[in-house]
Amino acid sequence: MAPQYDNLDSGHPVYGSGGQYYNESSAGFITPQRHTKKRTSNWIKFGIPVLLLLIAGGVVGVILATRKKGSSSAAAAVSANDKLASGRFATATNSEFMMPIYPSTTNTAAFSAPTFVSNDALAWPSDSFVPSNPDVLTVRSDRPRLIAPAYKWAALPNLIANDPYLAEWNATIFLNASQYYNLPPVAYFMDGDSGILDNAREVKMRIKALSYVYRMTNNTKWADRVWTEVQNAAGNGSTPFGPDVDKWNSLHFLDTAEFSAAFAIAYDWLYDIWTPNQKSQIVSSLITLGLEPGIQAYTNTSVYTGWWRSNTTGNWNCVCNSGLTMASLAILGDDTTGVASQLLSLTVDNAKSNCAQAVSDDGTWAETANYWYFGTTGHAEMSSSLLTATGSHYGLVDTNANFVKTGDFHMYITGATSLFNYGDHGPNKFSTTANSMIFYAEQYDQPGYALFQRDQRDAAEPWSMFWYDPTIAGAFWNGKALDHFFDNGVDQWASMRSSWTDNDALYVAMKAGMNQGHQTHNDLDCGDFVLDALGTRWAGELGSADYRSPNYFSNDTQNSDRWRYYRKMTEGQNTILIGQTNQNVAAAPTVDHDSSETSQGSSTVLDVATDSTAFWTTDMTSAYFNAASVKRGVRLLNGRKQVLIQDEITSTAAVQWRMHTNATITIDSTTATLALDGQTMLVSIQNPPDGAVFSTSQAVRFTTDETPPVPDQENPGVNVLIISLPPGTYNLQVLFNPQWKDTTSFVTPPSVALDNWTLRSHD
Ligand SMILES: *[C@@H]1O[C@H](CO)[C@@H](O)[C@H](O)[C@H]1NC(C)=O
Ligand SMILES: *[C@@H]1O[C@H](CO)[C@@H](O)[C@H](O)[C@H]1NC(C)=O
Ligand SMILES: *[C@@H]1O[C@H](CO)[C@@H](O)[C@H](O)[C@H]1NC(C)=O
Ligand SMILES: *[C@@H]1O[C@H](CO)[C@@H](O)[C@H](O)[C@H]1NC(C)=O
Ligand SMILES: *[C@@H]1O[C@H](CO)[C@@H](O)[C@H](O)[C@H]1NC(C)=O
Ligand SMILES: *[C@@H]1O[C@H](CO)[C@@H](O)[C@H](O)[C@H]1NC(C)=O
Ligand SMILES: *[C@@H]1O[C@H](CO)[C@@H](O)[C@H](O)[C@H]1NC(C)=O
Ligand SMILES: *[C@@H]1O[C@H](CO)[C@@H](O)[C@H](O)[C@H]1NC(C)=O
Ligand SMILES: *[C@@H]1O[C@H](CO)[C@@H](O)[C@H](O)[C@H]1NC(C)=O
Repeated sequence: MAPQYDNLDSGHPVYGSGGQYYNESSAGFITPQRHTKKRTSNWIKFGIPVLLLLIAGGVVGVILATRKKGSSSAAAAVSANDKLASGRFATATNSEFMMPIYPSTTNTAAFSAPTFVSNDALAWPSDSFVPSNPDVLTVRSDRPRLIAPAYKWAALPNLIANDPYLAEWNATIFLNASQYYNLPPVAYFMDGDSGILDNAREVKMRIKALSYVYRMTNNTKWADRVWTEVQNAAGNGSTPFGPDVDKWNSLHFLDTAEFSAAFAIAYDWLYDIWTPNQKSQIVSSLITLGLEPGIQAYTNTSVYTGWWRSNTTGNWNCVCNSGLTMASLAILGDDTTGVASQLLSLTVDNAKSNCAQAVSDDGTWAETANYWYFGTTGHAEMSSSLLTATGSHYGLVDTNANFVKTGDFHMYITGATSLFNYGDHGPNKFSTTANSMIFYAEQYDQPGYALFQRDQRDAAEPWSMFWYDPTIAGAFWNGKALDHFFDNGVDQWASMRSSWTDNDALYVAMKAGMNQGHQTHNDLDCGDFVLDALGTRWAGELGSADYRSPNYFSNDTQNSDRWRYYRKMTEGQNTILIGQTNQNVAAAPTVDHDSSETSQGSSTVLDVATDSTAFWTTDMTSAYFNAASVKRGVRLLNGRKQVLIQDEITSTAAVQWRMHTNATITIDSTTATLALDGQTMLVSIQNPPDGAVFSTSQAVRFTTDETPPVPDQENPGVNVLIISLPPGTYNLQVLFNPQWKDTTSFVTPPSVALDNWTLRSHD
C-alpha cells in the first residue's frame, strides 16, 4: 500500500529505515500515557521564595519607563538590587497541572505594566557584528554563531548575578546536565509512527544543556560527555544506533532535522575545544546523515522526503528548515562539498512562504495548541540562528505581519489548569518548549510574552539564557484583558477567564472554526469546549489517539478513517452530536461575541465586578447533517463565577449534548453533581425541554458506529455527561455552578434566545 505523503505529521503510519516501509499490521499499539491520572494535591516548592519577603519589606520600586532602544535618556528606574529583591514572582507550581503559583497579594509595587527599561547595567552589551549588507552566506568571524555569540557568554555571569530568573534557570540547567551526564547515551528506538523523533529531541536537549555547562565551567568532562552522545547518534558508539543507510531516518524528516540541529549546536558551541579530527568527524556525519538527505528532499523529485516543502503551513516546515539551516550555518566554511551553502539558498525563502504563514491573521497556529510548541520552537531557533550568525532574519520574523499575535494565542489558550488542548498533541516535547515566547518578546517588543513564560515550568533551558532580556520589568497580567476572541474562519474560538493569576480561576474556552485545513491534526469538533474552575478541569479533551493507527493521518475528507477513531469523532468531543453522526468536514460556522473588556490590574488578587462578563455564540448549522439549525453560545454569569452553555437546535435526527469529564457524576434528573480533586461542580438544565434529563456513559463508541481500522484506545476514568433527545426543536440551557470556597450566592439566568444575547441580556 502506497502511503499518502501530503498530510504526514510527527507521527504517521509507515516509515521504516533504509527505504523500507514500516509494516503497520505488525506494529502493535502504543499504550497512551498522557491520560494516566495523577491526583496528588500537594504543592511542590521549587525556586527561591524571596518575593513574599520582599513585599513584606516594601522595597520594590519598579517604575515604568518607555523603552528606547539604544537610548540612555530614560531614567534607569530598575536597579539590579530591585530585581534581586523582587525575586521570582512564581516560586512554585501546583503538582497536578504544574502551573505557576503566584503570590496572593494586593501589594502592587513589583507588578507594574510590562515594559523594558533603560538600564545599561542590566542589559546585554551590543553586538559588534552588524553587517551593513547581511548575506546568508556571510557569517560572523567568531564562534559560537548560533543563538549564543561569544559576547553574550562573556556578559552572562554578571547578568545571572543580577537577575533571579537567569540565576534559577542557570542552576536548573546545571542540575539537568548533571543528570544527563550520568545516563547512558540515548538508545536508538524506532517507534514506527514518530520514527526516531523522540531520540533526536532527547539528544538535542542533552547536547544543549551539556554544552552550556561546558562553556560556563571550562571543565572538559562536559565536552567529553557531549562527544559520547555525538558519537553514539552518529552510529560510532559502543552500541548500535540505527541502520547503516539513512541512519537519521529522512523518510520522517523531522528526525533528520532535529539531529542536525543537535549536531549543529555541539559543533558550534564547542568549536574551540574539538580537535581537527573531531571537527571533521562531526562535519562528515552531519553532511552524510543530515544535509545530503536535505538536498535530496529539496531537489530530487523522485524522493518524497521533502513533501513538507510546499503547502505546509505548520510545524513540519519550521522544524525541517530550522534544523537544516542551523547545521548549514554551523559548518559553513568548513564544508568543502557545498551542501551547506546550497541549502541556505533554499531554506530561508521556503520557511518564509510556509512556516511563517502557519499563524493566521488572529494569531492562531494552523495546527493545534500543542503543535504551536513545535512550530514556534523551529521558527524561533531558525530566526535567532540567522540573526546571530549573519545579522538578519531575512523577513522570517515579520514577513507575516500577524505573527506577533501568536504570543497572545499561546497565552489565551493556556487555561487555569492547562491548555485548551483540542486536536492532536504531538509526540514528546524534550527539547521543545514555549520559550519562543521569550524570543518573540524581544523581537516584537512584547515584554508581556517573556513575563508570562518566565514563570512556566519549561522556562529553564539554554535558549532562555540568551533570549531573555533582563531589562524587562513588570507583570504580564497588569493590563491584560481577561477575554479574547479569535475570529479567523479557520479557527474561530473564544477564551474567557476570571483571573490570570489564580490557580482556582474559572476558565472556559470554546471553538467553532473549520474541520479542515489543520494539517490533519484536528478533530470534528465545532462547538467543543473546556472548562476549568477550583483548580481542576471539569470538561476536558481526550487528546491524540494512537498515531500508529492505520489511516490516522490519511486525509481530512469526510470518509477518512481518521474520523472513525473515537477521540477524533464528533462523539468524542464536548459538543452537540446529531444522529450519532460525525460533523460535516465542510463546516464553515459564523460567530458573534462581546466582552465587558475587563482587564486585570497590578494585583494578583482580582476582585471581579458582578457586571463583568463575556459571551460568544456560533451558528454551526453547516457542521451538521440532518439539522435545519444548530446554534451554541457560552457566557459568564455573576461576576465570572458561573457559566451558561446554551444550544438551540432544530433537527430531524436524534440529539445528544455531550461532555467528557474525569469527574465522578451523580445524577438527579436535571441536575448532575460532579466531584473531582476534592471539589464539586453542580450542573443543571435550566428550563428543561420535555424529556431533557442527564445520563452518563463511559467514553466509548456506540456499537452502531462504523468500525475503525483498529480498536480505539481506552479512556479510563473518563465519564460522559449526556442529554439525549429525539429529533425536534430544542433550547437547551446548561448552567455550571462551581462550588466556590466562599459562600457564593448563585444567580438563575433568564431565558434569552441566542440571537438576542448581549452583554447585559442576563443581568
Ligand atoms: C550556574 O549554576 C551553577 C550550579 O548551581 C553554579 O555553580 C554557577 O555558579 C552558576 N553560574 C553563575 C554565573 O552564577
Ligand atoms: C531539570 O531539572 C528540573 C529541576 O530539578 C526538573 O524539574 C526538570 O524536570 C528537569 N528537566 C529535565 C528535562 O530533565
Ligand atoms: C572559560 O574560558 C573562557 C575562554 O578562555 C574564559 O573567557 C572564561 O572566563 C572561562 N570561564 C570560566 C568559568 O573559567
Ligand atoms: C562516525 O564513523 C563514520 C564512519 O567511520 C565516520 O565517517 C564519521 O566521521 C564518524 N562520525 C563521528 C561523529 O564520529
Ligand atoms: C534521486 O533519488 C533516487 C531515489 O532515491 C536516487 O536513485 C537518485 O540517485 C537520486 N537522484 C539524485 C540526482 O541524487
Ligand atoms: C498548493 O496549494 C495550492 C492551493 O490549494 C494548489 O493549487 C497547489 O497545487 C498546491 N501545490 C502542491 C505542490 O501541492
Ligand atoms: C483527565 O485527566 C488527564 C490527566 O490530567 C487529562 O490529560 C485529560 O485531558 C482529562 N480528561 C478529561 C476528559 O478531562
Ligand atoms: C482519504 O483516506 C481514506 C482512508 O482513510 C481513503 O479511503 C480515501 O480514499 C482518502 N481520500 C482521498 C481524497 O484521498
Ligand atoms: C429577541 O428580542 C426581540 C425584542 O425583544 C423579540 O421581539 C424577539 O422575539 C426575540 N427573539 C427571540 C428569538 O426570542
